[in-house]
Amino acid sequence: MIRFNETTGVFKLDTKTTTYALRVYQEGYLVHLYYGAKLPDDDLSHLMYRGWFDSLSPWAHGVDDPLFSADIVPMEYPTNGAGDFRISALSVRGRDGNTVTDVRYVGHRIFKGKPGLTGLPATFGNEDECETLEIETEDPVTGVRAFLLYTVFEDSGVMARSVRIENRGEAAVELERAYSACLELPTMDYDMVHLYGKWAKENTTTRHPLAHGIQAIQSKRGMTGPNHNPFVALAQKHATEETGEVYGVSLIYSGNFSMEIEVDTRGCPRLLTGINPTDFRWRLEPGESFTTPEAVTVYSENGLGGMSRTLHRFYLNHLMRSVWAKRKRPLLINSWEAAYFDFDGDKLVEFARAAKELGIEMLVMDDGWFGNRFDDHRALGDWKVNEKKLGGTLKQLVDRVNALGVQFGIWYEPEMINPDSDLFRAHPDWAVCAPGRERSMSRYQCVLDMTRKEVRDAIYEQMVSVLSTANIAYIKWDCNRHITEAASLALPPERQGEFFHRYVLGVYDLMDRITTAFPEILLENCSSGGGRFDPGMLYYSPQIWASDNTDAIERLSIQFGASLAYPIAALGAHVSANPRTGIETRGNVALCGTFGYELDPGKLTAEEKEIVKAQVAEYHKYYELIRYGDFYRLTAPTEDPFVCDWEFVSEDQDEVLYTRVIMRRPENLYQPVRLRGLDPEKYYEDEETGQVYSGALLMHAGLDLSTAGGRWLQDGASLKKHFIAR
Ligand code: GLA
Repeated sequence: MIRFNETTGVFKLDTKTTTYALRVYQEGYLVHLYYGAKLPDDDLSHLMYRGWFDSLSPWAHGVDDPLFSADIVPMEYPTNGAGDFRISALSVRGRDGNTVTDVRYVGHRIFKGKPGLTGLPATFGNEDECETLEIETEDPVTGVRAFLLYTVFEDSGVMARSVRIENRGEAAVELERAYSACLELPTMDYDMVHLYGKWAKENTTTRHPLAHGIQAIQSKRGMTGPNHNPFVALAQKHATEETGEVYGVSLIYSGNFSMEIEVDTRGCPRLLTGINPTDFRWRLEPGESFTTPEAVTVYSENGLGGMSRTLHRFYLNHLMRSVWAKRKRPLLINSWEAAYFDFDGDKLVEFARAAKELGIEMLVMDDGWFGNRFDDHRALGDWKVNEKKLGGTLKQLVDRVNALGVQFGIWYEPEMINPDSDLFRAHPDWAVCAPGRERSMSRYQCVLDMTRKEVRDAIYEQMVSVLSTANIAYIKWDCNRHITEAASLALPPERQGEFFHRYVLGVYDLMDRITTAFPEILLENCSSGGGRFDPGMLYYSPQIWASDNTDAIERLSIQFGASLAYPIAALGAHVSANPRTGIETRGNVALCGTFGYELDPGKLTAEEKEIVKAQVAEYHKYYELIRYGDFYRLTAPTEDPFVCDWEFVSEDQDEVLYTRVIMRRPENLYQPVRLRGLDPEKYYEDEETGQVYSGALLMHAGLDLSTAGGRWLQDGASLKKHFIAR
């Protein structure tokens, strides 16, 4: 619920569990008051003060308050050069050439529901689910208006924020910083928790205390990249996985992002999230407007786990727009690790036949089916079926696979082009490059200039002419390099600063067109593994390949990290032929994700085939619990050298699936495991042994699993326990 108190000028935005408050102060200054646990109070105006006025702090014109300076109070959308010396959310270069920016409150409106954001992925909700506040602010000198949008999702306990900037002045202006949201906190008693990584080691969780000064994560790669994820949590120092205060901030964006935190000399953190200002400059002619990507904020009193569970449910219900978000998805096998480029039609049909016998429902033909793509040196951009290699048309191959009762999926890398391709020979200028410079190569490929409509149109037409010829049920959309020598030949010099954002808008446009033209196709995003694992992609593709690293032990930290911000239903995870652990453990780890296979089913032993059949049965048995239940990270692989364990609990607390992986045999074999999130009053039956325990016992006393069959105690072994309330 959103309320405005005319007398105090306080806006109060409540969800079921949280309150957010800001105030229109004298002279239209917008001051942040509070974000946190729900408060019943109406008057929160005293929360704007952060100690006495400093002698070097600028005075605010016309403000009759000796304690007020834009330099020290928490500002709602801080601007550059007008009294606030901390990091600023908005900086506009006006016709005079300076970047002094000062937006003040002009008016507001409150309405049910939530508008979409033009050209950008964003959360959605109907009029019963959410309410929006739009605050209009103005900089009288440039004529720039910034509209601050806040949507509260009452039941989800989540807020979504974005900003629309309009040039109502008479001269062109340039946006140099246009962040999506600012979050101000009154103390630095927080740790910064975020996800870093690299290829084959994505989404590693790290946690460190906030320090005075600026700390930030960012991308300058054109894509989000595996190096940093556009997500930050601020966890109170003593907050744990299940207790204490945590703020989660996630940016729905797939390009150059920035999450910047400044702790000022008073020990007050300011967090900004949005487009990275480095290499960004956006020209707004009079009458033009610019919309920032959307930020999502969560406040949890139940530690990092509570934050993650809120985000998981929220993204499933209010971000993943695909028809497949909650529809049962087919269990797939992917050809990549089984065959790489070395396949033909018959081999794929054999894969499908063997997979079908195991209960697998879809075959994905990965890289290598088009042009003369027999290795990764060539043919990206030539999306024509290599009929010679497939031994017939795509339709013929798909029909053969379908006749076995197996669906068919296909791989694409639409944003890329190899210099050795017909497309490049016809349109060398379509590959991104700054004039007069050599292109830096990466995986033998270049990036297509997706800012240009004719480029997107050409790729779209090529894709449609393949996708419409055969019964394609799935696309893996890959992206295997980042952008260097960034420039577009189609943009004038004064608009080159728009390249990176226009690139992302171009990708979104193409994804939107493909998913709109083929709404029944299940899209899985991939970027050399989990290199573009971000909420923007989640909007279009309900699953994202988490990593090219399919080793089960390595996958534990990758999937645990990703689960901090992303639903388990989105984590692409397959059982591969990677031998470090047995196939049971590989299956148990992949079950903590979308689950699928990435191996040659013909090479499985008879014993392994039986295990796979049992895994397929478990995939179906636990499907709802894993996707729609609550996820608990019990022991994190980054914190414990021996074991990793986790748990799913159904929303009605009637069903529990517990999994443990032994990374290294523990010294102490007696380790009672205490479950979480159960109903203490209910009684749960261990499906395997028939023994019944109270929820209270399972949570407080725990279970000794050291003698559970003995099998799980070896390095790399794993164990599952399934409990059902009686
Ligand atoms: C990337 C992906 C892999 C595979 C290859 C194909 O590396 O992450 O899964 O699709 O490309 O070239």
